[in-house]
Amino acid sequence: MMSNKSVAIIGAGTMGSAVAVALKNNGYSVVATRRSVEKLDDLKTMGMEVTSDNREAIVKSDAIIFSLKPAETVVQIQQMQGELKGKLVISICASLPLSKLESLLPESTVIRAMTNVASRVGGGFTAYSITEKVSEEGEKQALDILRCFGEVEKIEERYMDALTPISGSGPAYIFTVIEAMVYAGLKVGLPRELALRASYQTILGSAKLVAESGDSLSALKETVITPGGVTIEALYELEDSRITTAFMKAIEAAADKAKKSSLEFLNNLEETETKGTH
Ligand SMILES: NC(=O)c1ccc[n+]([C@@H]2O[C@H](COP(=O)([O-])OP(=O)(O)OC[C@H]3O[C@@H](n4cnc5c(N)ncnc54)[C@H](OP(=O)(O)O)[C@@H]3O)[C@@H](O)[C@H]2O)c1
Repeated sequence: MMSNKSVAIIGAGTMGSAVAVALKNNGYSVVATRRSVEKLDDLKTMGMEVTSDNREAIVKSDAIIFSLKPAETVVQIQQMQGELKGKLVISICASLPLSKLESLLPESTVIRAMTNVASRVGGGFTAYSITEKVSEEGEKQALDILRCFGEVEKIEERYMDALTPISGSGPAYIFTVIEAMVYAGLKVGLPRELALRASYQTILGSAKLVAESGDSLSALKETVITPGGVTIEALYELEDSRITTAFMKAIEAAADKAKKSSLEFLNNLEETETKGTH
């Protein structure tokens, strides 16, 4: 029976260190790895174990999160199949399908998830997919881990590529929006810190209202717009700059890229495997 309280993070870079911090803050014992282990001093200071030895990290943990680039994840899993047997293995890599993970790890509990950098503060959105091979108990153990990152939702795997540019990349768009609002605040004479706090808190609060009120976006928008008032002046300018189209085009381009990267990755993988069999 797994205690499920010790988690190895293989490849604690941007995303891996974010989930490592979330797990540590939720009482998990965490061992984080990367080759340049000296870059993990921050995690060490927070009480995590750090090492460049992936095998050692896997052996001493009940659950393993792979947060390497997808191709390197495949290489590492191939080298560590024996050690991963019977364990909960969560891949948070874009492009790496469940079918590949399960074929490499027939005797592990395998989960594919897509999360984002807001996981670091428990504010992430994590979508996950599993196959019918995963037991109820295995899924529950995975959920205990994923819920430390923030909101969690089970989705069909076929939506992963389209979700990557919304929730995976999404924080970058929102940081851009906050930055734009801060610049606007500076332009109209606000002190920098006040403009920053007012901007991010407004985004946090508006998102909370969307999540909790159950009202439609248009109804919520209407509540802020007074006829002939201030807000409609701003919305008129935003619409004139085609803000909705700009977001739609941006996310569609990113979704195309995610799909293309997934196909390229799978083709490369197939080519390597074909070469390996000759
Ligand atoms: N960044 C995001 O916002 C985001 C969002 C959603 C999903 N993801 C997914 O998360 C995964 C990681 O992305 P990332 O942005 O976090 O990349 P990253 O910052 O480059 O992190 C990957 C880490 O893996 C380490 N690494 C490479 N080879 C290794 C090995 N053999 N053993 C141990 N560690 C190794 C690298 O450090 P060393 O060179 O020191 O080893 C690096 O720090 C990707 O698959 C990506 O699709 C990222």
